[in-house]
Amino acid sequence: MLLLAAIGLALMWLYTKWHRTKKYWADRNVPFIPPHPLLGNLTFLLKQNPGIFVRHIYNRDQPYVGLWWFWRPVLLVNTPELARRILVKDCAVFKDRFLNSGKKDTLGGFNLFLVNDPFWSTVRKRLSPSFTGAKLKVFHKHFVAKARELVERIKIEMESNKRVNLRMMFTDYTTDVVGLSAFGVRGDATLTGKSPLRDITKGFMTFTYLRGLAWACIFFIPELVDVFGFSFFPNEASNYFRKIYKQVVDERGGYNVRIGENKDFLDALRKMKQDYDQNNEEMPEDILIAQAAAILQGGFDTTGSALTFCTYELAHSPQYQDKIYDELLQIKDRILNGDVDAEVLHEIKYLNAALKECFRKYLPMGWIDRVASTDYRIDENLTIKAGTPVYVNAGGMQYDPIYYPDPEKFDPDRFLPENEKKHTPFTYLPFGEGPRFCIGKRFGVQNAICALAHIIINYKIVAKPDSHLPRDIVIEKKSLFYMPGETLYVDFVPRDL
Ligand code: HEM
Repeated sequence: MLLLAAIGLALMWLYTKWHRTKKYWADRNVPFIPPHPLLGNLTFLLKQNPGIFVRHIYNRDQPYVGLWWFWRPVLLVNTPELARRILVKDCAVFKDRFLNSGKKDTLGGFNLFLVNDPFWSTVRKRLSPSFTGAKLKVFHKHFVAKARELVERIKIEMESNKRVNLRMMFTDYTTDVVGLSAFGVRGDATLTGKSPLRDITKGFMTFTYLRGLAWACIFFIPELVDVFGFSFFPNEASNYFRKIYKQVVDERGGYNVRIGENKDFLDALRKMKQDYDQNNEEMPEDILIAQAAAILQGGFDTTGSALTFCTYELAHSPQYQDKIYDELLQIKDRILNGDVDAEVLHEIKYLNAALKECFRKYLPMGWIDRVASTDYRIDENLTIKAGTPVYVNAGGMQYDPIYYPDPEKFDPDRFLPENEKKHTPFTYLPFGEGPRFCIGKRFGVQNAICALAHIIINYKIVAKPDSHLPRDIVIEKKSLFYMPGETLYVDFVPRDL
């Protein structure tokens, strides 16, 4: 009897709680998408990519929409004005992301992407100098060397099997480039498809149900990450990161030698450790390794996928490719000799515009998430409570025909300098905005531009006769990021040089 009474009471409690939960947004006169009793609005998981989910529920006439992650109310905002306030003007309230990897997982929980303020501000300040224009000049040499290997790789693959798996090839390339910059490790994946670090990044790209569950917890119920012992990086990846990081730091003389000018990202981390030691403050090595791992994770697939989508689009838009080629012809010899610098590439208008348009159509994160640290007045009708997750619907705005007419069309003209300045601010957010915007933006863009310039000057990119149009590209349903969900191929026809 007692047991039955306890079950009855628990069910009543659950029912009352559910009843209150599902009225949460209606009680505040906020339009909402009706929630599932268990999952809330997370029923799209594994069935639809989040970038497509938010785009489908975008409604310009509703500045915000109430949703639930399980039973937790979250707010999706749809206007550039709210995006500006949350990401920039009132960023002091919205410094943290909602996703989190718990306290036990040092490499995950303390990396720049996931860590909360005030530690986030300290780390970000330390790492930002590694991404200035002057530092990128050092990285640019790696981009050029590896881009030349890409050209070679395409030749080998086209001659041997006439098929190049675009995403594999480009993530081989970005693993080499980002791995060298973040961990100081030289890899051979661009030419061979193989390297120890590449095994790790291939692991990141492989979906297993356990990893899927871990990611779902990190993104939507972070409280459970520690309970289940999940981690942001798989264990084998964490072990490998620790091993190679220590190895490279040792090769550079450890932490006790004088670090003059920071050569790269790894030196910035060593310097950070030295400064903490000098102030008798603790800086566990795992927290440093966490930053290197975040750079690798944040940098390799975003840029690799952008290169994949852009190459596929250009194959299907020869008119734009011809314009890029005509521009590149002016610096052909410099590209072929490997001495083209970033400033020159930045001047190639059509190439830059095509990449920007690619980031409009294929933004890796369909939403930009933040969490309110205090109660926050959204407008005269709504004040959200401290702790409410808020998502800026970047995907929705980048596909809104009012801001970007005929949004399915790949149209680099939108981003020619004379047109770009007419865009409504805060409707284009592929790299986020405000103090927490993508730290690797310039690195990623410069890397991608360099790779595309080398490819297009050497090859005409041609759509395979049986290939479907870019608008029909299957997007990965199981990933939380916007990535191709199918293998994409094009033909590369050597140009007369
Ligand atoms: C090129 C394509 C890339 C895209 C589209 C992209 C996109 C993004 C976005 C949307 C964010 C969140 C911004 C926000 O919340 O406001 C972000 C953050 C971040 N990105 Fe990127 N990213 C790219 C490349 C890179 C590269 C190459 C690196 C490293 C070299 C990198 C490292 C990071 C890190 C560490 C963060 C977290 C920053 C913080 O919280 O302070 N990303 N990125």
